[in-house]
Amino acid sequence: MNTAVCGLQFGDEGKGKIVDLLSVDNDVVVRYAGGANAGHTVVVDNKKYKRHLLPCSFSSDSIGVLAAGMVVDPLILIKEIQESSCNTQIMIDRNCHVVMPWHHKEDIDRCGLLGTTQRGIGPCYAEKANRVNATRIDNLLVRLKDENVKSRFLSTSILKHYLDAALFLQDYIFDTGEFLRDCIKSHKNILFEGAQSIHLDVDHGDCYPFVTSSATGPSAIPQACGLPNIYLDRIVGIIKCYTTRVGTGPFPTEIRDEKLARQIREKGNEYGTTTGRPRRIGWLDIEKTQRAIKLTGATEIALMHTDTMSDIDPYVYKNGRLCRMPKWTNHNDSAVKVFIRMLRSELGIPIKIISFGQDREDVKFVQEIKNGSVVYSNKSEQIIKSL
Ligand code: IMP
Ligand code: MG
Repeated sequence: MNTAVCGLQFGDEGKGKIVDLLSVDNDVVVRYAGGANAGHTVVVDNKKYKRHLLPCSFSSDSIGVLAAGMVVDPLILIKEIQESSCNTQIMIDRNCHVVMPWHHKEDIDRCGLLGTTQRGIGPCYAEKANRVNATRIDNLLVRLKDENVKSRFLSTSILKHYLDAALFLQDYIFDTGEFLRDCIKSHKNILFEGAQSIHLDVDHGDCYPFVTSSATGPSAIPQACGLPNIYLDRIVGIIKCYTTRVGTGPFPTEIRDEKLARQIREKGNEYGTTTGRPRRIGWLDIEKTQRAIKLTGATEIALMHTDTMSDIDPYVYKNGRLCRMPKWTNHNDSAVKVFIRMLRSELGIPIKIISFGQDREDVKFVQEIKNGSVVYSNKSEQIIKSL
């Protein structure tokens, strides 16, 4: 079975937590696009883990793959590999492009207006498309010995770090497309972890140029992973019951009441994992979510941060106006179930998971009963079916 997880807002919806949750049912977890601009915070047994490049499977020993569509920062990558548990096998595609120090510099010097994460993502993808002077990871060691490349390093100590990283990473470089095609042939379960979100997609994001530089949605998977015939059985779209956005760019449902925005920001710990920037806070935009579902093909929803909205009057933007929804105290309140039923009817796909806290354990699986009532379960539908 092939499953994809994707963001339906502006990133930071909580994809990492859902990927971690689903990873236990999967043999392989694949990151397919973007780079260390992504930031996932996952709490397992009260311990906080942060990831930028490796797939977010903390709870399983599934194989982690970084597919060819990614751009990797070798210094961040080795740090994450060294920190990750040693029983997780990591495979980096040989065609991944490498973020070089001048990509960081260009991102900082020239992309400021876009409010980027300054991780060198745009300049690296630009150099990849430009081809002249770009560096694929399987060629990194050779490139670092080239005088023209060496001269672009402003410091010999950074060059040395890159050389060390290139040597370290050699053992992790594979033709992951070949590996994944074999996995599909032998009916392994594969989970594809989207980074950023469909509204930040370079082709489909409607706030271009305030988007990222990669194709973010599930339609990027075949190309980025070398899996032309892949069929995705399940596409889990992630939303929070409000919206956040970091960086500049249009945000129609942004909350102007700074006190309320601050309250939600503090409660939800809405600060960028990558940059530490305070996230802008807004209401859930049903119209944008409907469009995101069309663009991603999401087959179900995971609703995150219901705890953050507790004791706050929730609003959603639909049919051209802000609508107030009943307030809840905790996820068992009937008001949460009203919210879930409203989403079900507006979005046309089932809400299958709700999250009500930071920890891995703080989730419930939502079951739909014929008369429309909402019942939670501690076990996923897949597990119940297999019992
Ligand atoms: P870049 O991807 O660093 O070039 O940044 C482009 C835009 O995408 C900026 O608005 C960033 O804040 C946003 N962005 C990139 N990655 C993420 C993410 O993982 N979460 C949220 N926003 C992101
Ligand atoms: Mg994030």
